[in-house]
Amino acid sequence: MDKFLITGGQPLQGTIRVSGAKNSALPCMAAAILTEDEVILENIPQVRDIATERKLLSSMGAEVGGAEVGLPEDHCTRIRCAVLSDPVAKYEIVKTMRASSLVLGPLVARAGLARVAMPGGCAIGGRPIDLHIKGLEKMGAEIVQAHGYLEARTEQIGGRLKGTHIVFDKITVTGTEDLLMAATLAEGETLMENCAREPEVVDLAALLIKMGAKIEGAGTSTIRVQGVDKLHGARHAIIPDRIEAGTFLVAGAITGGDLTVANCNPSHLGAVIAKIQEAGAQVDIISADAIRVQAGSLLRATDISTEEYPGFPTDMQAQFMALTTQADGVSQVTENIFENRFMHVQELVRMGADIKVEGRTATVRGAAHLTGAYVMCSDLRASASLVLAALVAEGQSVLDRVYHMDRGYERIEEKLCGVGARIERVSNAPDPAEE
Ligand code: EPZ
Repeated sequence: MDKFLITGGQPLQGTIRVSGAKNSALPCMAAAILTEDEVILENIPQVRDIATERKLLSSMGAEVGGAEVGLPEDHCTRIRCAVLSDPVAKYEIVKTMRASSLVLGPLVARAGLARVAMPGGCAIGGRPIDLHIKGLEKMGAEIVQAHGYLEARTEQIGGRLKGTHIVFDKITVTGTEDLLMAATLAEGETLMENCAREPEVVDLAALLIKMGAKIEGAGTSTIRVQGVDKLHGARHAIIPDRIEAGTFLVAGAITGGDLTVANCNPSHLGAVIAKIQEAGAQVDIISADAIRVQAGSLLRATDISTEEYPGFPTDMQAQFMALTTQADGVSQVTENIFENRFMHVQELVRMGADIKVEGRTATVRGAAHLTGAYVMCSDLRASASLVLAALVAEGQSVLDRVYHMDRGYERIEEKLCGVGARIERVSNAPDPAEE
C-alpha cells in the first residue's frame, strides 16, 4: 500500500500540466460499446479508474489497445467492440468503480441485453442508480434486480429501445450520460429534461455526434436525441480535467505561491476561479488553456455551497475546505450533492484544523497552524485535500492509502514536485483488495 511522505512549507512556483478528464474518459470509453468500429480516444489520463474500465470492456469481449506507457500513444486508448461476447459487468470489477454503471445504457442499446452488478455504496454516499433504471424502463427495457445484479432486456419490445420523454427526478451526471448513450440507438426521438450540464456531458455528446448520433442541447438541461440505426467509429480528444486543474489552483493559493496551470480549459472553472479570488488570491486567465494563480500569505474566510454545474463543484469541496483552514476568519462549507462527503474533516483536524460539522455544513475556523501528521486517505477528493493541507503544514505528513488518489490523479506527486513540493512516494506493500 503506497504512502506519500510530504514535507510542507514550500510555495509552489512554475508551470504544472493538467491531464485529460477521468470523468469524461469513462463515459467516452463506454460509448465505444455502441459501435462495431474502432473508437480512438486521445488525452486519456493514466489513472486507476481508466485501467479498471479497460479491464471491464475487455472482459465483455472488446479489443482494447493503446496506452502502452512510454510509447507515443501512451495517453491514447483504442477500443473496438466488434463482438460483445459477454455483456456482463462483473461485481469484482464494478465494486472497485461505481462508474461501471455507465456500460448499462450502451449495452442495452447495442446488444438488447445487459447484466451489470449493482455498484453498492462508496465512501461518499449510497450512490444509487435508480434514475438510470427508471429511464431505461421508460425506453422499454425490462430490468430485473436479483443476486446483486441488474439484468436488462429488450427482446419483449422487439430488441430495440424506444425513444421517449424522460424528466430526471434529480440532476445526475452519469444518469444523463447513460441514458444519452442509450437514446442514440433507440427507435425515434428521446427528449430528456432536467439533465446534468457538466462539461463531461458535453464532451460525451461531442464524441457521439462524431460517431453519427443526432443530439441537440448537450450542456443545457434539455437534450433531444433522434435515434439512428447504427453508429460508426471516431477519433476524439478528451477535455482537460477541470477538477485536477482546480486542485492545482488551490495548491498555488494555499502555499502562497505563483503557479501556472497549463493544458486546462478556464471556461470550465468559472465558479472555482471566483471562489479562489474571493478568498484573496490573484487568479488570471492568461490564455485559452492556462490560468495563473498568485497568493500572498493572507487569505480571507470564504463560504462555499456545492451545486450541480455551473455551480461550485462537489468534487472541489474537500480541496477548498483545506484552503479555508488557512483563511483569516470563519468559513461555512456546505455539501448539497452527497450525504457523506466530509471524510477528510477528521484527518484535517488531526493536522490542527478547527472544523465542526453539523448536518451538511462544516464550519471552519481559519488561520490554523497545521502540523504534519500520519493521516488516512478515504476517497479520491478527500485524498487531494490532505495533500493540500500537508503542503502547508509544518514538518512531515504521512498519507496512507494513496491508491485512492491514484484513481483520478495522474502521477500527482511528480507533477507537484516539479513546481517545488517535497513529496516522496513510498511503496511498501501491495494495495489491499479494493474494499
Ligand atoms: C459523477 O458521479 C462523478 N463521477 C462524480 O465524481 C461527481 O462527484 C458527481 O458526478 C457529481 O458531480 C463520474 O462522472 C464518473 P450523480 P455520479 O449521479 O454521476 C443522486 C469524482 O470524485 N442520484 O450526479 O455518480 C446521487 O446519490 C467522482 O471524480 C440518485 O439519487 O453522481 C447524488 O446524491 C465522485 N439516483 C446526486 O444524485 C441516481 O440514479 C448526484 O449524483 C443517480 C444519482
